[in-house]
Amino acid sequence: MASQTSTKKSRSRRGPSRKRNTKIKNGKAPEKKKVFNRLVENRLIEKVDYEEYRDTVREVYDGKQGAFLLACSVLSLHAPLGERIFSTRKFDLSGKKRILDVGSGAGQIAKHLTKHADADASITCFDISPGMVRRAIRRIKSDRPNYLVADLTRLPFADGTFDCVTCGYVLEHLPDPEIGLRELHRVMQPGGSMLLLTTEDNFGGAWTSRMWRCRTYNRQALRELCKSLGFEWKQEIWFTRVHKIFRAGGICVELGKQ
Ligand SMILES: C[S@@+](CC[C@H](N)C(=O)[O-])C[C@H]1O[C@@H](n2cnc3c(N)ncnc32)[C@H](O)[C@@H]1O
Repeated sequence: MASQTSTKKSRSRRGPSRKRNTKIKNGKAPEKKKVFNRLVENRLIEKVDYEEYRDTVREVYDGKQGAFLLACSVLSLHAPLGERIFSTRKFDLSGKKRILDVGSGAGQIAKHLTKHADADASITCFDISPGMVRRAIRRIKSDRPNYLVADLTRLPFADGTFDCVTCGYVLEHLPDPEIGLRELHRVMQPGGSMLLLTTEDNFGGAWTSRMWRCRTYNRQALRELCKSLGFEWKQEIWFTRVHKIFRAGGICVELGKQ
């Protein structure tokens, strides 16, 4: 397990802006959220600078709450239903040879990758939390993935390294999603695909935000931002029809790098 973490000093020099950022840049319109959602949502991400927020996120996931992440994914059905996205080829892994799993957590998505990716595909998993990386290694029990500790805002990979990216519920941990999305765009090959899942600004999303101290996204604003960064918003995916009717499970979209 390689480590890509650096000192606090160098993080603050090279890291994202310390300015409060509640808007999606390039998404133009500020997000309008329902009053109730605003009351429930956790606001830490707006109140402190990125380095402090990131340290808190790392502590949360390294600690006891992180140990319950997998149980939460199973109870919310995200882990079992997530596999269907790959097994039914709604998001098609065939032909993908260099796959990056962002913020792997307990390996919820990475485990599906080891089952459904081509046998000769390489799988790279990273997370900001060393504790979560250890949990993923213990859970996946496969020597296929490479693991490292790294930050989505500063990826230690060369331009165009990957033809496929999976990013499940990580973008909500960035005050400014543009920085993370730009990094993912940079490390993707032209024509590459990304499965992006993130927390939506609705009732369910507000409670997720409270529990995991993350932000939420407005679907339309995120779509505009992705388009402005050179991603094609290819298809919106729902775990089940029930999820679609109740707008549950968050935003799940296939993006293409043009
Ligand atoms: C909700 S879990 C998602 C786990 C898994 N991807 C899934 O789909 O269930 C979020 C993970 O993102 C990681 N994370 C948060 N901010 C990150 C960052 N800036 N860079 C890399 N990983 C990050 C957390 O440590 C945590 O393991």
